[in-house]
Amino acid sequence: MSYTPKRYDFHDKPADYASLAQDLGALLAGESDRIANAANTAALIFATLPEVSWAGFYFLRGGELVLGPFQGKPACVRIMLGQGVCGASAVQRRTLVVPDVQKFPGHIACDAASRSEIVVPLIETAGTLVGVLDLDSARAGRFDEADARGLEALSRVFVARSAAHAR
Ligand code: SME
Repeated sequence: MSYTPKRYDFHDKPADYASLAQDLGALLAGESDRIANAANTAALIFATLPEVSWAGFYFLRGGELVLGPFQGKPACVRIMLGQGVCGASAVQRRTLVVPDVQKFPGHIACDAASRSEIVVPLIETAGTLVGVLDLDSARAGRFDEADARGLEALSRVFVARSAAHAR
């Protein structure tokens, strides 16, 4: 398989995220393995979005968040619910946009270069929390509400197309 991501400039974020959601749907079509789809989702996001230093997943396992597929530098493996931006987003079940990570109480600094962050909770239609999608940037204020809505749309595509990993 050869896949070349389309280039987007994200000057019109709603339009570009809508198009990227279609790309993601096509990329994941025919595959339902959650780990495989998380790997390709992280890779597509990392290859496409500008000024992103880390993009990946934490999955809820045994009451804590455990690192899943990602692109970027090696990261913290386990995050307790309620801890850091990821754990807060998981508990509150809402997207958290953090313009300055140094001002977020309890932020977990996996990468000292990270300045801003966005975390989207992954919730199945039945209401089950699956985990979170996490993006970091070296630029403060990198993520806004348009990114939140766009990444929520990408997360819905991922969740809808991915079944829990067989054990
Ligand atoms: N900064 C996150 C931890 C995960 S890394 O950014 C990849 C947090 O505070 O939850």
